[in-house]
Order: sequence, then C-alpha cells, then structure tokens
Amino acid sequence: MVVRICKDTQAMGKAAAALFVALATEKPNAVFGLATGSTPVPTYSEMAAAYQAGAVDYSGITTFNLDEYVGLAPDHPQSYRYFMETNLFKHINIPTENTHVLSGLATDPEAECAAYEAMIDAAGGIDLQILGIGNNGHIAFNEPAADFAAVTHTVQLTESTIEANKRFFDSVDDVPRSAYTMGIGSIMKAKKIVLLANGAAKADAIKAMVEGPVTPECPASILQFHPDCVVLVDEAAASKLSK
Ligand code: F6R
Repeated sequence: MVVRICKDTQAMGKAAAALFVALATEKPNAVFGLATGSTPVPTYSEMAAAYQAGAVDYSGITTFNLDEYVGLAPDHPQSYRYFMETNLFKHINIPTENTHVLSGLATDPEAECAAYEAMIDAAGGIDLQILGIGNNGHIAFNEPAADFAAVTHTVQLTESTIEANKRFFDSVDDVPRSAYTMGIGSIMKAKKIVLLANGAAKADAIKAMVEGPVTPECPASILQFHPDCVVLVDEAAASKLSK
C-alpha cells in the first residue's frame, strides 16, 4: 500500500483522474471499477475535462460500479446509476451499454448479484478500481464485521452509514435500509486500486486502514494485502497517521 498526501481535494482528483486517463490510453478496452459518494466527484470532473480537451477516448472502456441502493429506480436522483450519469457518463463518450450498475429494482436479488459478478469476470476483471472509505472503515457497502471473501451480495446498512448518507435524502426515513454491493472478495480481485479520502472526518478510518491490524472491524484494512493499492489523501485525512 502506497500513501500519497495531496495538497487538496482538487489535486487528489487530478492525480486519480490521471491514472484512469493513462490506463484508457494504454489499454483502450480497459475495465474501470467506479464508486459514488462525494469523494470521487473531482476525479470524475477531471476525467470529463480530459475527454472534452480531446486528451482521451473512453469509447472502448467498460465500467462496473461498486454498489446500488435496493429499491431505487435508475432515474431516482439518489440512485447510484443517476449519480454516475450526471457526474460522469453523460460528459464522456462511453457507450451506455458498456456501463454497469447493479439494478436497484431487481426482482431476484441473488440472481442479480451472481450475474453481476459473472459479468465482471467475463469482462476480464477490473483493471483499475476507485474507492472511497466510510467513517467506519467501510468500502463499498461492506460494513464492519464484513466477510473478506464475499462477492457481490445484498447488505443491510448500518445506522452509521444511514446517518452519513441521509444528507442526500429529504429525511432519514427515506434512506434505503439495504443495498447491493460488490464484496471485499470482488474488490480484492481488481488489478489496481486507488482509494481516496479527504477531510478530518476520515482521519480515524485512514489510520485504522493504513496502520491498524487487518481486521473485518475495519473492512478497508484488507487493502494492506492488495499487491497494487494507492491511497490518495489530503492533509486532514492523513492527520492521524504516525509515520
Ligand atoms: C460509494 C461507496 C461508499 C463511499 C463511502 C464514502 O459507491 O461505495 O463506500 O465510497 O461511503 O462516501 P463519501 O465519498 O461520500 O464520503
């Protein structure tokens, strides 16, 4: 695990976007693993800016998102499909059929999750996965006490995640209680991972992930065992690191 401290969130976004742009250039049919949340937004803006400047072509890229809320339609403003369309896909030249987000409306959750995992494998696996981290150390929706071997599955969200995500909904009661998520096992299969974190609220999670024991209580700590994981943080998120 390599940790790099960036000047601010803009610099972090530029550094992460540069990894995706370089990969698209080197491997035009690469597979990107994508995340939602506040953290990757500057990265997606930079990726879109690179396309608009003519510096990159995403037409052969395939994407898989980490997770989706159960029960939200793709056009629901808080669905992760909608997030991806508005923050990235509609600003770049990726064909819609190459973009994959679990369906919040799937009628057979187990089949949806199994088919998703199989699609990732059939695409050759994820070349570069972007991750955020929850204040409690979650990655995707793999909450503390996560099963390190799990592949794509349904999870019940913890109170801490519901609290953290309520800012996007009219009220806490509107936050879905369950979600589909790639498992830790799915994430660890990615060839390269870039995890981003900014702000003081993430400092404890970053310390536990980087310097703590590898434990399901901090799901992100498993990344210490990933052979190619880059962590990009701002100074506030890095403030509790001792080394
Ligand atoms: C989103 C996701 C989550 C977020 C995490 C951090 O697809 O998988 O694990 O990465 O909750 O969220 P933000 O970036 O909003 O702080």
